[in-house]
Amino acid sequence: MKRLLFLVLSALLAVLFVFSFVEDSTREWTGYQRRFMNTLERAERRGVSTGIQQVIVSDLRKVDRCTTCHLAIDRPQLALAEEPFTSHPALPGEVNKDGDPTPFIFHPIEKFGCTSCHGGQGLATEVKAAHGDVAHWEDPLLRGPLVQASCRQCHGNTEQIREHVPMLLEGRELFKAKGCYGCHAIKDFGQTVSVDLAEVGSKSYLLMEADFEMMPHPHDRIHWLKRKLGHPRTLNPGLRPEELPAGEEEVFASAMPYFGLSEHEVDALTVYLLSLKASNLPASYVTQALPEPEPVYASEIERGEAVFVKFGCTACHGIGGVGGRRNVNAGLGEEVPPLLYVKAYYEHDVESLKNVIRNGRQPTPRANPHRPRPPLYMPAWKDRIPEEDINALVAYLFSLSDQLPEAPPAPAEVPADTASN
Ligand code: HEC
Ligand code: HEC
Ligand code: HEC
Ligand code: HEC
Ligand code: HEC
Repeated sequence: MKRLLFLVLSALLAVLFVFSFVEDSTREWTGYQRRFMNTLERAERRGVSTGIQQVIVSDLRKVDRCTTCHLAIDRPQLALAEEPFTSHPALPGEVNKDGDPTPFIFHPIEKFGCTSCHGGQGLATEVKAAHGDVAHWEDPLLRGPLVQASCRQCHGNTEQIREHVPMLLEGRELFKAKGCYGCHAIKDFGQTVSVDLAEVGSKSYLLMEADFEMMPHPHDRIHWLKRKLGHPRTLNPGLRPEELPAGEEEVFASAMPYFGLSEHEVDALTVYLLSLKASNLPASYVTQALPEPEPVYASEIERGEAVFVKFGCTACHGIGGVGGRRNVNAGLGEEVPPLLYVKAYYEHDVESLKNVIRNGRQPTPRANPHRPRPPLYMPAWKDRIPEEDINALVAYLFSLSDQLPEAPPAPAEVPADTASN
């Protein structure tokens, strides 16, 4: 009896052993390692360690196992053309003493790992999981030019790395030029009509103002941002009264305007938005941003135009103040008013104009008092627009009427609908 038990248990042990061996050798990464090793000469093999590879960067609290598959990433002499066996591209200027391009001179692997630039999931050893392409991992892999999104968390002074981050800088310029600051703040600059975007590159998916159900796969931060920029209303289409229980107020579609951005502009803005992250890196990794130099303007009007763009007035009033932004249920033709007539109304009352700009004007009167409040209103900047800038703005706004052929229509000021608010 004892003997039988011994035999059965031994057999079981053998089966388990074979099973675990098979399972181990069929793991995804072992397949990649085998394929890579097969391409090497015997002498070369000795220099390559196998098994799970990891880089521990304690200063950044990171453990990155990417080199388990990306075996030739720092060995150009062994690299193949195919992923994951390529060697890393060198940044412009990263050359060894013979002048050959050499990766990881500026950012040694042992000090930076991989995920500090590429995102993804450092500890994972399967392709999808490592590249962040799994549920509940909110840090997708940054490929190609998207990697530029990570440089700013350390290189606060982007001027020093200007030539390396063209998409990032383009995205930042677009953010200003399109007037995103008119509705969104980033930390201490911008308006509070909508959410602060200071951490949109890292904030939890649960806190973003729309869910993934309204868009096709892949469901990650990169594609969500692209969708938001390209088609803002498809993510927040609103709810019509007939879709809601009786008595509930309808919900308007997103007030975020459709900007008609090109694919390239969407990509650049996405890089910039992904770069807006909460981060607390050690000081030894970080350079501080320098204040931007004050530009020089040829005239007061030119300065005023720059102020108009800088404070995001274009977002609601259109480029050049020509108007046309939709504002559902607003008293003035469901649009944000154009500013071409400002001179006619305010020429003899400049103080009132300045007060509209400083104090804003809200709420915007409703067209139909039974429908919800229009989502857009004139926000207040208070004393955050310096007096000289307000004067320049006034000069610019007055200059807009020069483009007008006809007499102005009735003033935009409609009595506030106090009854329905
Ligand atoms: C289990 C193996 C495996 C692991 C672990 C792994 N990768 Fe990959 N990686 C691949 C394969 C296979 C590809 C090619 C297929 C693809 O692009 O998804 C690839 C492609 C990439 C690319 C795209 C290259 C290009 O431009 O085409 C990047 C960037 C990358 N990996 C970075 C990482 C980083 C960073 C990590 C660690 C967080 C990592 N990988 C971990 C297998 C792996
Ligand atoms: C300092 C930031 C930085 C670090 C750290 C970094 N990378 Fe990259 N990586 C880049 C940049 C920039 C590119 C080029 C992107 C592009 O195509 O414009 C790149 C490209 C790649 C590619 C694509 C290769 C190709 O031929 O285009 C792979 C794969 C990759 N990195 C993997 C890794 C792995 C694995 C690590 C860790 C060992 C790592 N990277 C660490 C910045 C970094
Ligand atoms: C985790 C922080 C970190 C990230 C992310 C990072 N860097 Fe760096 N980078 C550094 C540090 C630290 C140095 C070394 C600075 C020094 O010693 O002067 C450096 C050096 C450099 C240098 C050479 C030094 C110089 O000023 O000539 C360049 C160029 C550079 N980084 C570009 C980039 C680019 C491009 C990216 C994004 C793809 C990037 N870095 C991402 C921290 C980082
Ligand atoms: C007229 C106001 C307005 C302007 C201008 C505007 N947005 Fe928005 N944005 C919104 C509103 C309102 C939301 C809240 C969600 C919704 O209703 O879609 C939003 C949401 C977002 C979100 C999602 C943030 C989150 O955490 O959920 C991003 C990202 C964003 N906007 C980027 C931009 C960018 C980039 C620009 C400039 C190209 C811009 N927005 C211009 C009104 C605006
Ligand atoms: C979030 C959208 C939004 C932004 C950004 C915005 N405005 Fe307005 N603005 C409005 C709305 C809506 C009205 C109409 C208010 C009403 O119906 O009384 C308005 C009204 C005005 C008026 C009064 C027009 C009139 O005919 O009386 C002026 C002047 C004006 N805005 C200037 C500006 C300037 C300058 C900026 C930038 C500093 C700016 N606005 C930014 C939405 C905006």
